[in-house]
Amino acid sequence: MPWELRQALLIVHILLAITWVGGILFIGWGVYPALRKMTFLQQRQILLALMQWSHKFLTGAGAGVILTGILLGTVFGPISQWGDIVDTRYGNIWFTALVIGSITLLWGIFVGFKQSIKVFGNTRLWQQADHGNKQPLFKALIKIALLESVEVAGFAALIMLMVLL
Ligand code: HEM
Repeated sequence: MPWELRQALLIVHILLAITWVGGILFIGWGVYPALRKMTFLQQRQILLALMQWSHKFLTGAGAGVILTGILLGTVFGPISQWGDIVDTRYGNIWFTALVIGSITLLWGIFVGFKQSIKVFGNTRLWQQADHGNKQPLFKALIKIALLESVEVAGFAALIMLMVLL
């Protein structure tokens, strides 16, 4: 395959990875803390709208990272048969990245996002907090943070693997 095409695909891979990882991390360190000065009901409304809007793009970016990663390692890379995955260092690292990338994406869709929508969709929880009973909401938010930290760990592992590739 032409070298220029591979480099173009690598650029797409990196841009998609920036969108995926950067997008999710920004919600955590940028958006959440910035909303704290608003009422809980306002926070809920913004977070729910943000999650519903960004979900499709973040999922698409994650799927794109995995797809371009598969192409970079196989069609445009050194993996041409099953044995290459088992017998070569490159194949081992690539396969580990594929597994961790897929688990991270699926975890984000079926665990992190689902739990976030459940909490942001529960108006009563946020109303209660506005009336002074913050404990149940804080508990639910800590659960979201813990579940999302699995995704963050996946990103950290993937970045390390990309350095090793
Ligand atoms: C957090 C997600 C990811 C990030 C931030 C990321 C980032 C990068 C970067 C910066 C490079 C360029 C490395 C270099 O040229 O030295 C790269 C290359 C590559 N990535 Fe990823 N990547 C991610 C996920 C994945 C996944 C899940 C796979 C496997 C399915 C993958 C497969 C590859 C391959 C095969 C290359 C080309 C390496 C080569 O042959 O030089 N990446 N990635």
